[in-house]
Amino acid sequence: MRKLLLPLIIFMGLAGSVVAALDEIEGDFMQDIEDIQKSMASNISLQDAATARSEAVELEAMFKDVEDFYVRKGDAADAVDWSKDSRTYLTEIVKALDAKNFDVASESAVALAKTCKACHKIYKTDD
Ligand code: HEC
Repeated sequence: MRKLLLPLIIFMGLAGSVVAALDEIEGDFMQDIEDIQKSMASNISLQDAATARSEAVELEAMFKDVEDFYVRKGDAADAVDWSKDSRTYLTEIVKALDAKNFDVASESAVALAKTCKACHKIYKTDD
């Protein structure tokens, strides 16, 4: 019995980390997005490519979760598009940072901030 139990526990642990889907867009999750976004923007202006790059990669994954949430929710095509746009800008930021092109990275960071506002205008109803 013991021999079977351990692989099972390991399997369940792995499955749990892969299926980390959002059930709703929570304030805490968004607050994390904002903190990382601000830090990334300041690291771009400080020309700290390595730190800004890892933050862009992290944000891209978070917006993938946001996108998946709105795909599952349905009837939210514009929210799906804004999530996709966010991911596109973040991918551009990663590429620009790889090329040490900080001007392009900061232009994409500004474009990213506009998609935050666009989505909030329609989907953030609690203020
Ligand atoms: C596709 C839609 C969408 C996009 C894109 C988006 N947000 Fe949000 N955001 C939401 C929704 C929905 C809420 C309301 C969540 C809630 O119930 O508190 C929210 C709430 C917030 C809040 C308030 C959190 C709180 O404590 O209540 C912050 C801060 C925030 N977003 C930051 C950002 C930033 C920064 C970006 C861009 C880098 C961004 N968001 C992009 C949908 C979006």
